[in-house]
Amino acid sequence: MIKVLFVCLGNICRSPLAEAIFNHKTRKYGLDGFFEADSCGTANYHIGDSPDHRTIKNASKNGVEINHVGRQLHPSDLEKFDLILAMDQNNLSNILKLGNADNFKNKIRLMREYDSVLGDVPDPYYGTEKDFQEVFEILDRSIERLIADVAKNIFR
Ligand code: 4NP
Repeated sequence: MIKVLFVCLGNICRSPLAEAIFNHKTRKYGLDGFFEADSCGTANYHIGDSPDHRTIKNASKNGVEINHVGRQLHPSDLEKFDLILAMDQNNLSNILKLGNADNFKNKIRLMREYDSVLGDVPDPYYGTEKDFQEVFEILDRSIERLIADVAKNIFR
């Protein structure tokens, strides 16, 4: 089982959507038995919360069901997961500040390393519906490539 963790700031917009898109695609490709996905936030603002209502609405519009309860990143996550994907540079630097991060640097990456252009998955929290759709499209492209990359190693 390959364990993938998606990390953003609040764990109510970007990372729970990334987790949902990942689960949707691995199910679609019949690969769900190979993977386990989860998401969390670097901040503690939304522990126990459902995803943002705008994220739920946008995911549904794009045919993706989203189910997650907000939680904060914990140092033990770095041991537990095989691949840890940060939505933006701030999330990445906060992950790397954890005391044990030096031991796990090789599995901590930016989400958009899998997109056609490297950059941040922009925080849509103060944005409009258009910003939520942009986040969806970035994640949809990046996760498509991520699954293809990892699946190549499984079936090598
Ligand atoms: P996320 O978006 O990191 O994609 O979940 C945010 C959610 C909440 C806040 C900021 C960003 N906030 O400041 O509460």
